[in-house]
Amino acid sequence: MTTLDGTEVDELFGPEVVVDPYPYYRHLRASDPVHEVAGTGTFVVTRMALVRQVVADTDTFSSASGEFLHLGDWPAPGMRPAMTGLTDDATSGAAIATTDPPEHARQRKMVVRRLSASNIQAMEPQFRQLLDLVLDQVGPDGRIEWMNQVAEPLPMVMVTRILGLPDAAAPQLKRQGYAMVERISGFVPEDRIQPLEDEGVNNLAPVIEAYLEAKAGPSAHEDDLIGIVKRAVDDGELSDLEAFGILSVIIAAGGESTTSLIGTAVRILAERPDLQDELRRDPALVSTFVEEALRYDPPFRGHYRVVTRDTELGGRSIPAGSHVLLAWPAANRDEEAYEAPDEIRLDRTRPRDHVGFGWGIHLCVGAPLARVEARVAIETLLARTHRFSLEDGAALSYHPSLVVRRLSALPLVLELS
Ligand code: HEM
Repeated sequence: MTTLDGTEVDELFGPEVVVDPYPYYRHLRASDPVHEVAGTGTFVVTRMALVRQVVADTDTFSSASGEFLHLGDWPAPGMRPAMTGLTDDATSGAAIATTDPPEHARQRKMVVRRLSASNIQAMEPQFRQLLDLVLDQVGPDGRIEWMNQVAEPLPMVMVTRILGLPDAAAPQLKRQGYAMVERISGFVPEDRIQPLEDEGVNNLAPVIEAYLEAKAGPSAHEDDLIGIVKRAVDDGELSDLEAFGILSVIIAAGGESTTSLIGTAVRILAERPDLQDELRRDPALVSTFVEEALRYDPPFRGHYRVVTRDTELGGRSIPAGSHVLLAWPAANRDEEAYEAPDEIRLDRTRPRDHVGFGWGIHLCVGAPLARVEARVAIETLLARTHRFSLEDGAALSYHPSLVVRRLSALPLVLELS
């Protein structure tokens, strides 16, 4: 791809690759599975076996990276800090996802206390109720903008409750999470960086207030995440900075990702009435379909690791200090890992055997929540309609990002049953 000033830039940044990265990933898997993005010291890893090799070797491939591939309006891409002033050497507020053993296990333990499968199961009726409230309002024309009315607001309400905040805080937290994820998208022009950082910091206000309140005395939310990290700080298991880091990672990781899954999965079904019919006939297959959606087109385009010592990967030398970008969606379509990887199949023998939630010690801690929300959204939509489809002439687009893959809008027409 060529930028306006004539510089050759990796195809990864091309607008057509944002819309559909899969042809480029296929090309990389076949010809250059550990692909260096020229001039950045970053290697994009696209084969399943190599992705798993990196993730398993946390000594060589550290998660403590505070930098991201960024083009923005620079003439050429580079690894640039996720926040102004932050570098790989200064990840002091690092939380769970960007920590290594042994800190990682210490922090993850706190989050699991609230996000365990059994705690999440108990919340399933809450999500069903939120969804019913929205779907009850669909008018006789059956029109709904699925992203704006369902996929974007509802997962953040669940995250807000998990934190221990009132539902009214959800829109502000959504703005916080979106700002932080857009900041690291790789496409943000220079003059938008500071406003995004301000939005990220300012919209954390409800969390900061609730945390300070929890510190001041007993609260009604001792078992919610804010109460849990506050107690861990009291007990000397976490620092205040780590506690805030954990809370902001949950906001950034917990809303947008599930939004993306609920959007993509419903898009697939809107375009495939045959799959809708199959799932209506056998609703028990919805869980398998959710896994296939996570494999076929996962919400995260990649996470980074920083290389701690000179090493070799897939026959390629990688010097210490380089980064690798784990391209989960590319690995999920690896012909060596799956039969017919470009097809949605509901009869895969091990449907969870994908890296849509990552793999290894950093395997997504929010997976139980995301799975419940996606399953309930699809079950409900299928049960309340006898058909749903894209609105005529809908042109679908994705937010430009190297990190996430989220539809900008999904206008649907529901034929209510
Ligand atoms: C469909 C939705 C989701 C997807 C596809 C997803 C994907 C991922 C992936 C790929 C990783 C691994 C990152 C790495 O190895 O560097 C991860 C980790 C993580 N996710 Fe999720 N996630 C989702 C939902 C959630 C939710 C709902 C939450 C919280 C409420 C969450 C919180 C986290 C956290 C805290 C980590 C770091 C875990 C660790 O480092 O041990 N995620 N997620």
